[in-house]
Amino acid sequence: MTHPLRLAGAVAVLTGAGSGIGRASAVEFARRGARVVVSDLDADRAAATTADIVKEGGEGVAVRVDVTSEADLAGLRAAALDRFGRVDLVMNNAGVLAVGAPESLPDAAWERVLDVNLLSVARSNRVFLPLLLEQGSGHVVNTASASGLLAYGFDRLPYVASKHAVVGVSEALALYLGPRGVGVTCLCPSGVITNIMEQITAYGPTSATPRAPKHEIVTAEQVATLTADAVERGQFLVVTAPEVQPELVERATDLEAYLRARISEQSP
Ligand SMILES: NC(=O)c1ccc[n+]([C@@H]2O[C@H](COP(=O)([O-])OP(=O)(O)OC[C@H]3O[C@@H](n4cnc5c(N)ncnc54)[C@H](O)[C@@H]3O)[C@@H](O)[C@H]2O)c1
Repeated sequence: MTHPLRLAGAVAVLTGAGSGIGRASAVEFARRGARVVVSDLDADRAAATTADIVKEGGEGVAVRVDVTSEADLAGLRAAALDRFGRVDLVMNNAGVLAVGAPESLPDAAWERVLDVNLLSVARSNRVFLPLLLEQGSGHVVNTASASGLLAYGFDRLPYVASKHAVVGVSEALALYLGPRGVGVTCLCPSGVITNIMEQITAYGPTSATPRAPKHEIVTAEQVATLTADAVERGQFLVVTAPEVQPELVERATDLEAYLRARISEQSP
């Protein structure tokens, strides 16, 4: 349980909101009465999300932001303050994927994935937390993944590492921000229908079988509803598959047995 935030009247900023989970979340936050600053690396996509919000009678503004640039994130904060005068909700959502066998992945793959998926959160903390701490209220949503809770993805080790790190960072942030009036939600979806495949960089021969959990695939709109509910309830963890929780219990109860069972399911 973390601090709940009422979305009606709140000001929300999102990264990677030109597509998929970020786009659907921006639209859902606006439907619940938030004013939204939509950002993405792709300015046209950010503008399209904002157009959807405005078409539905909501208030939104689009900004081009590359989350690997702290100056861009400072520009996002400035856009929110100029247009709406405050920031209540920060959703660190932009993410990319690199796939390949562990022995094929060069430093460049690790660096790109960690830069976009993990260091973006560090930059966002520096840019936005002073505002939220000064207010003594607000909420941070970090988009991790089920791959941040369960290490299935041996064909995407930088992604697994980045998302495990985002889960750990989010938990630590909840401890830091909770007593200071600010809530944290960590979003850990299993498969979601989005454009993420466009962002994949592949190294070496890749497996025909995606190394992802065999959980039901959900829509970005379903994830957006769960995320908005979690913000409004003050819920820390969001998963999209009911299998995750019992599997975490199984893993924590006997890691050796859990890994033996998972290894026996794999073909080389
Ligand atoms: N799709 C899934 O199955 C799934 C599952 C679990 C977690 N996630 C996570 O959800 C988040 C959103 O992914 P999605 O599936 O909606 O993908 P998506 O590709 O549909 O959307 C991601 C958006 O991020 C933007 N982006 C990429 N690099 C950026 C950068 N450097 N700066 C700013 N924006 C950038 C892209 O332009 C794109 O619009 C990611 O963090 C991803 O890891 C996705």
